[in-house]
Amino acid sequence: MTIPRQAIFADCSSKSAAPPLATRPLSAALGLEILDVDLSDPLPPAVIAQLREAWYEGLILLLRDQNLAEEDQVRFAECFGPPAKTINVNNTGRHPAVMLISNIRKDGKPIGALPDGEMQFHTDQCYIEKPAAASMLYAIEVPSVGGNTLFANAYLAYETLPAEIKRRIEGRKAVNAYDYENASTLRGTRLREGVPQYSHPLVRTHPATGRKALYVNRLMTIAIEDLPQAQSDELLNLLFDHQEQRRFIYEHFWRVGDILMWDNRCTLHARTDFSSAERRLMRRITILGEKPE
Ligand code: SIN
Repeated sequence: MTIPRQAIFADCSSKSAAPPLATRPLSAALGLEILDVDLSDPLPPAVIAQLREAWYEGLILLLRDQNLAEEDQVRFAECFGPPAKTINVNNTGRHPAVMLISNIRKDGKPIGALPDGEMQFHTDQCYIEKPAAASMLYAIEVPSVGGNTLFANAYLAYETLPAEIKRRIEGRKAVNAYDYENASTLRGTRLREGVPQYSHPLVRTHPATGRKALYVNRLMTIAIEDLPQAQSDELLNLLFDHQEQRRFIYEHFWRVGDILMWDNRCTLHARTDFSSAERRLMRRITILGEKPE
């Protein structure tokens, strides 16, 4: 029996497109590790397409043992969308998209942003109109203990809410504000003048997957609009406690050479404490996003 030419061609072309990526789940809740991909070389389009699919499925992607110059990291970021230029020039690398996250000090001043210790759960840039779609960190120096980053699955957080709570938050918006020092303690009170802030829906739909995610966080969500303060506080605290349950979380213990990218539209993240006597240096890039809907 002769095999039709088209069948042979179709088989060969799919194989030459790219073999399936080897992956391994990071936790039951979210996260995929991508194995055997070296980001110091440009990636073929077929591999980029697979990485995007894996990212939508896993919400966060981890690649270990990378050795990346700034340009390599920018090229990887561009596979997922246009990188955002960093605003605070004091904390940047040489490339305008690169920002340093570090507790290392030069002349007494941190060389990077978000320098010290623990951070509560948040999503990046939720206080602006179009928050970053994605953020990625590349680990250059890590402390021996702590400084872990925790990621929570915001789809699961939404999907597991009781129907009555889903009804209470449907169609509502909340104010998110950038004031890391004070925002969570100012909840329900008047925000300081000039603090960057923006109102977004409590539930947003991911533009690529169509899934709904709970879009509030303990660090930056201040108040639910059009609700008395006591009711807003009560509902927000309930949502924060719900979304931070261990069953929705993957905790990442960093190793030098890790690059980890997360989707801010369907995850939130936090950082555990670490000693100020140890150095932590991460190179961060964010990818432009859209207005949450
Ligand atoms: C961040 O919130 O972007 C930083 C997280 C970290 O330093 O682990």
